[in-house]
Amino acid sequence: MRRVLVTGGAGFIGSHFIKHALRVHPDWYIVNLDKLSYAGNPDNLTGLPDPNRHKFVRGDITDHKLVEKLWRDCPAGSGAGFDAVVNFAAETHVDRSILWADDFIKTDVLGAFTLLEAARQFGVNKFVQISTDEVYGSIERGSFSEDSPLNPRNPYSASKAGADRLAYAYFATHNVPVIITRCSNNFGPNQHPEKFMPLFITNAMDDKPLPLYGDGRYVRDWIHVEDHCTAIDFLIARGQLGETYNIAGGNEVENVAIARRICQRLGKPESLIQSVKDRPGHDRRYSLNAGKLAALGWKPQRDFNQSLDATIDWYAANKSWWRKIKGGKFKRYYAQQYGQRL
Ligand code: NAD
Ligand code: DAU
Repeated sequence: MRRVLVTGGAGFIGSHFIKHALRVHPDWYIVNLDKLSYAGNPDNLTGLPDPNRHKFVRGDITDHKLVEKLWRDCPAGSGAGFDAVVNFAAETHVDRSILWADDFIKTDVLGAFTLLEAARQFGVNKFVQISTDEVYGSIERGSFSEDSPLNPRNPYSASKAGADRLAYAYFATHNVPVIITRCSNNFGPNQHPEKFMPLFITNAMDDKPLPLYGDGRYVRDWIHVEDHCTAIDFLIARGQLGETYNIAGGNEVENVAIARRICQRLGKPESLIQSVKDRPGHDRRYSLNAGKLAALGWKPQRDFNQSLDATIDWYAANKSWWRKIKGGKFKRYYAQQYGQRL
């Protein structure tokens, strides 16, 4: 058995990655370390393909004693340590990082450090640091390649940039076998309704306003979460140690166009779309050149419009999944963020 540590595996992308990995790798045993923050959701882990090869550990990636214990308890086939570590665990929502950045610095930077330090001391065959395209900052024209300078512009992306370069430093200084991925905006089932697409889809279903920041002409490059997961899996097998890889969907769309499509698909009036106060420091456009990954032989498979429709349909068919979240503490965050009741 190959022993793989996945952190943040009860979140959106981490849970999809675990399902994907259990499906395609019958020889993987996955330890899933997740502290179940407001974003971690055990419901995301129902229906795992082979639950006997998945062990859930509730805990914090900044807890070095717990992290060391996970390593010590892990008799990997080839000596001590995990065969692979994939670090998804993070505070991930830009708007929350603007309200209060403390947890971002702790989890995203100190947490990555804690895992890298354990990997250095106790061994790992591959350490994948899940970074983000946001570390490059905004670009009006053209696209960022892996060599572009980093210019994070909000506390979330700055904390992710810290972890990204710390991971590289552990490769350069200590020979920890690190690979860094920088992916564009993910969408799909099980994404927390604080994020743009699920917020707009679920608000529209309830005939609530869709709070579009500023002029709505901000551009994100969207990738279906399952494409992101196959790219990570591909890089675990084929990525070069010490290298950074952009992962992009190649679907650059203005927010307002997505908001309109959501209304159309759900048969709701576009008058639900309401312009609200802009996000401070809002990055205008993200765009990646993903040629380095393409040259290795990986490309996304999913059609954007079909996947968006399927995603809208998933939230329509899984109302209990998101009602549980939106009916809880989320209401308080929503009131603070939008000055409106949900
Ligand atoms: P998410 O917010 O849905 O999930 C994060 C998970 O991490 C949750 O399960 C949470 O409980 C867990 N977590 C938080 N703090 C922790 C801690 N201290 N210890 C252990 N677990 C902790 O996030 P997501 O959207 O699935 O993103 C996953 C990763 O991918 C993040 O590193 C993010 O920066 C990166 N990323 C996300 C996107 C995107 O569009 N969502 C794009 C590129 C990169
Ligand atoms: O680019 C990758 C990043 O994508 C990830 O690293 C982050 O973890 C993830 O949260 C995401 O960040 P964004 O800020 O791009 O995503 P968000 O869903 O918050 O917003 C997408 C766009 O929609 C952005 O231009 C802001 C806008 N928006 C968002 C919300 C929540 C609105 O107009 N209204 C809203 O209510």
